[in-house]
Amino acid sequence: MKHPGFWKMLTVAVFMALLVCLQAQEHQGHVSIILLGATGDLAKKYLWQGLFQLYLDEAGKGHSFSFHGSALTTTEKGQEFMAKVLESLSCPKDVAPPRCAELKDQFQQLSQYRHLKTSEDYLALNKDIEARVQREGLWEAGRIFYFSVPPFAYADIACNINSSCRPGPGAWLRVVLEKPFGHDLLSAQQLATELGSFFQEEEMYRVDHYLGKQAVAQILPFRDQNRKFLDGLWNRHYVERVEIIMKETVDAEGRTSFYEKYGVIRDVLQNHLTEILTLVAMELPHNVSSWEAVLQHKLQAFQALRGLQKGSAVLGQYQAYSEQVRRELQKPDSFHSLTPTFAGILAHMDNLRWEGVPFILMSGKALDERVGYVRILFKNRAYCAQSEKHWVTDQSQCLPRQIIFYIGHGELGSPAVLVSRNLFRPSLPSKSWKEVEGQPGLRLFGRPLSDYYVYSPVREQDAYSILISHIFHRRKGSFITTENLLASWVFWTPLLDSLVHEVPRIYPGGAENGHLLDFEFSGNQLSFSQQQLEQLVPGPGSVPKPSDFQVLRAKYRESPLISAWPEELIAKLANDIEATAVQAVRRFGKFHLALSGGSSPIDLFQQLAMGHYGFPWAHTHLWLVDERCVPLWDPESNFQGLQAHLLQHVRVPYYNIHPMPVHLHQRLCAEEDQGAQIYAEEISALVTNSSFDLVLLGMGPDGHTASLFPQSPTGLDGEQLVVLTKSPFRPYDRMSLSLPLINRARKVAVLVMGRMKREITTLVSRVGYEPKKWPISGVLPASGQLVWYMDYEAFLG
Ligand code: BG6
Repeated sequence: MKHPGFWKMLTVAVFMALLVCLQAQEHQGHVSIILLGATGDLAKKYLWQGLFQLYLDEAGKGHSFSFHGSALTTTEKGQEFMAKVLESLSCPKDVAPPRCAELKDQFQQLSQYRHLKTSEDYLALNKDIEARVQREGLWEAGRIFYFSVPPFAYADIACNINSSCRPGPGAWLRVVLEKPFGHDLLSAQQLATELGSFFQEEEMYRVDHYLGKQAVAQILPFRDQNRKFLDGLWNRHYVERVEIIMKETVDAEGRTSFYEKYGVIRDVLQNHLTEILTLVAMELPHNVSSWEAVLQHKLQAFQALRGLQKGSAVLGQYQAYSEQVRRELQKPDSFHSLTPTFAGILAHMDNLRWEGVPFILMSGKALDERVGYVRILFKNRAYCAQSEKHWVTDQSQCLPRQIIFYIGHGELGSPAVLVSRNLFRPSLPSKSWKEVEGQPGLRLFGRPLSDYYVYSPVREQDAYSILISHIFHRRKGSFITTENLLASWVFWTPLLDSLVHEVPRIYPGGAENGHLLDFEFSGNQLSFSQQQLEQLVPGPGSVPKPSDFQVLRAKYRESPLISAWPEELIAKLANDIEATAVQAVRRFGKFHLALSGGSSPIDLFQQLAMGHYGFPWAHTHLWLVDERCVPLWDPESNFQGLQAHLLQHVRVPYYNIHPMPVHLHQRLCAEEDQGAQIYAEEISALVTNSSFDLVLLGMGPDGHTASLFPQSPTGLDGEQLVVLTKSPFRPYDRMSLSLPLINRARKVAVLVMGRMKREITTLVSRVGYEPKKWPISGVLPASGQLVWYMDYEAFLG
């Protein structure tokens, strides 16, 4: 009998042979590529060249191809156009001209123009492909439909492909989609649902051409191959900041009908720069070539992104833009666009790896240079005792340390990966990247090029050629899945909504921009470094600036009233709270502060977090005035707001933080769990006489305060310190301090902001003590002080 190992080996060999056959089947056979929008700009500039490259790379490996260009133009015009484009195709440098002519000729033979509009046109295409496959004794491997058309055309085309032009069983279908993929979260969802009704996720390839740029595509492999150096460095302890930049010299002329609807954030930041951000920030999967793992890690990175606010952005618009829009879109002379052509964004990741590290995203048209890069700048903690002339580039820890993925253009003129020599000698795949010297005398990011290890691609390739090859080889990791797309819109949409009426700073364009667009950050806020002397485009209405007014002192309901513009009002309130805290700690050793939730105090929390270094946080107890009956991690929870805007930035001991117990035994505000009583007992135990040093309240448009709403059966009087209440708004169930408890406080501050509060402010100024109708009117501290803080909009309207 033969050795049992023999059978094992034989089985393995047969299996391997089968696998090879199957793999070969997967890739070989006939492939039809249909380029929709074949006469458009993108097709002309990149896609035909990319398809030709695909043909050069793959045709020799046993595949047969046919290329169909289609557009809405007449067959005659389309053919003429295609002939011109195909004639202008170029071969790689190492292909001799006669051979190149031959290859181009073959490619031209395989390419034809066809008019594709109606479902009959698609049926006819289907028949032609099938007939050809049969006639030539081939088998069909698959079809690629490349949508280089505006998104409004997607649905019709998708429907036609789905109903009349799907390949038969055993062959694959791939549809390639070009941005824009929606305008905001809602429209992206709608488009995704629509496409999802025709195609499986697996069949869709959404292109972000930046993922095909060689330096961008190298980010993950670089992180993977240099784990041994980067594992310790790629985090908040070592990284000072990350810059993700795409500067352009061109403007939007000729494209304003598109640009006017999108602007720079939607055009570039939401997609290209965000993708890069996730590649830099994501946790590195064990296997970076598994696109499923990469996607999961990317989605986690999106989850960790802190929400952006108006103050996270600076916007600009080049001066000629509005005029171009007026001309191209036939707008009246009085028209001024608010569309930004320049944006700087400050993003943060709320996770252990990146907490506190600024991620700066910036892009603009009509700037002084064309360049794109990602720069990771490391912190420098070293002090070098020897004078600078003795510093040795690859040893001195005092020289800047940075890693740059240079996407292209700029001073270098080509893609590159640069690593400061005092960091480490990186490892890059030697087949595709080579170490280069670089031009002598050239300086980049403040250092001579000789300070870096510089690597550039062995063969520079256009992003579209790379992506077309990835589509062919089903490398889905280079494309944007639906989940990925929606996660990005979830991140950007609130910011975009908040910026709708924002007037961008006007800049002249090119080198003349000088320092006008320089910006700087502090905390979560970004602002232009230079004050603007004169705004060239007037904003809607000339609103007085805070500095035009002083803080106003008066009386309201017989208590002191402080009124100012929001910024000053918040600053004043924050100072007053700090003064009260310092005094309380001096006298009693601790400070008990009860805070309201909602949107009004957010700026106050940020102000306290940012600018109050003398605040005695270590001796402060933080209590909640009210809470929504949702889990504490829910974004609707007041505690979550406090956590996001204050707690995570200051050092309050854990045992001094007292969230309301709304979530006990896996239930929310159940009577029988006695959460209100538990909170009351905690207050009685820790706060002398249950008398808070300071209670911060708000006032709702219906006169509610804390979560005490008009006609509330609980909390307006009686013995209970903490009560469960009902709100007329979602979430309906609430927990709240009672009026009697609030009125025991030494000090109560009521913060009222915004025009929406104008009516109630006027009304409440006239009413007496009627807490049933207007709970706020029942705020009358028995022996403490009540102070109203109102901004001008709430007070003066
Ligand atoms: C596109 C934007 O996605 O990218 C354009 O719509 C921008 O506005 C272009 O000019 C930049 O791409 P590249 O490859 O030239 O850097």
